[in-house]
Amino acid sequence: MERYKNSELLLQKALELVPTGSQTFSKSHYAYPRHASPMFLERGKGSAVWDVDGHQYIDFVNSLLCVSLGYADEDINAAVMAQLQNGVSFSLPHRLEIEVAELLVDCIPSAEMVRFAKNGTDVTSAAIRLARAYTGREHVAVGGYHGWQDWYIGSTTRDLGVPGAVKALTHTFKYNDLTSLETLFSQFPKQIAAVILEPMTFDLPKPGYLDDVKKLCEREGALLIFDEMITGFRFALGGAQEYFNVVPHLSTFGKGMANGFPLSAIVGQRDIMKSMDDIFFSGTFGGETMSLAAAKATLLKMRAKDVAGDLIRKGEALKVSVEKLIREQQLEDYCSISGFPSWTLLAIKDTPNYTGLELKSLFIQECALRGILMNATHNLSYAHSDQDIQRLLEVYGEVLPILKEVSENKLLASRLKGDVLKPVFKVR
Ligand SMILES: Cc1ncc(COP(=O)(O)O)c(C=O)c1O
Repeated sequence: MERYKNSELLLQKALELVPTGSQTFSKSHYAYPRHASPMFLERGKGSAVWDVDGHQYIDFVNSLLCVSLGYADEDINAAVMAQLQNGVSFSLPHRLEIEVAELLVDCIPSAEMVRFAKNGTDVTSAAIRLARAYTGREHVAVGGYHGWQDWYIGSTTRDLGVPGAVKALTHTFKYNDLTSLETLFSQFPKQIAAVILEPMTFDLPKPGYLDDVKKLCEREGALLIFDEMITGFRFALGGAQEYFNVVPHLSTFGKGMANGFPLSAIVGQRDIMKSMDDIFFSGTFGGETMSLAAAKATLLKMRAKDVAGDLIRKGEALKVSVEKLIREQQLEDYCSISGFPSWTLLAIKDTPNYTGLELKSLFIQECALRGILMNATHNLSYAHSDQDIQRLLEVYGEVLPILKEVSENKLLASRLKGDVLKPVFKVR
């Protein structure tokens, strides 16, 4: 499409220099239809972003949920710029490490001690190593997405390059199905070091489920790890563990904690966290101060403004309206909305004529043409206004019926102006 001329030029160049053309699968041409969607962004402010061809969008992706307050937030920028004048990384720890750790201990129920890192994968991997060291066991049970390292990705279909010996130690269980976890414990008696799960993805936990998982772990001598990369600060300031009132032994955070600056954290029970002294978890940039200054300002703002409450309120209104639209336009066979209000999934379904992935390619194209950057989930930020949500609903009012029309009349070939999305793997 002529509209995305500069995006396409940059993508061509990137594909010569950067495998996949992106550092992140979910930001690449695997996740957005090439020629029919922007491929590169230039800048952002609040809830808006601008692509390299000068088009403006309301962004409902928000850098995969790490932009929690909005792009270029003035308060966060001021805190980062003040710290920047004094240096970024130092030869000894900085007091910000303690200040941010204190803020996390204050707001997260399971947090007694805290260690920082950069990516989510750093801390989920640290949690697994810590659990293995603490329990003296090697097997782990996983329920969700937990990053790119061998111990986890070996359990998915994208397991190329992961040694079989590592894969044999990781086992998946079904969320909301206690029996599937009990079965693992009986298949590997006294061998499971930890159960790591996203406390919720798109289905609410059944009453008592998370509590039962914790009881089962304690009975079997395994640690319970909540991966709160997404739910943290979004379901409640203290994460899903606060919202559902179940306190895990360890938990991992990242994403929205520093409004887009790279920071992650593993937190947990003191005696377990102290075993960090005996394992090796260490990195040059763990105490980098731009991100810590951003996290301090972000956490204080989230607390002062009840950001989690604001996201839930806006997300609830959005969810109810999309449900109504689906009902009124009889779109049940084409899409559905599910999940917690502050992180809902708009699933595009397989139909007799097209796969969900084909129709989703068209969906992204049509949303982008109308100034909405959207992929699959509504990643709300504090900067989204009620008008932004209203505009999204107007766009859905136009785009979702197009999916029905195109599917019923087999029109995809003439309507989709770019490539069909490519599958990576599915874990949620
Ligand atoms: C629940 C969950 N855990 C872990 C990760 C990995 O985080 P990162 O991509 O920062 O390594 C992600 C990233 O999307 C995630 O959603």
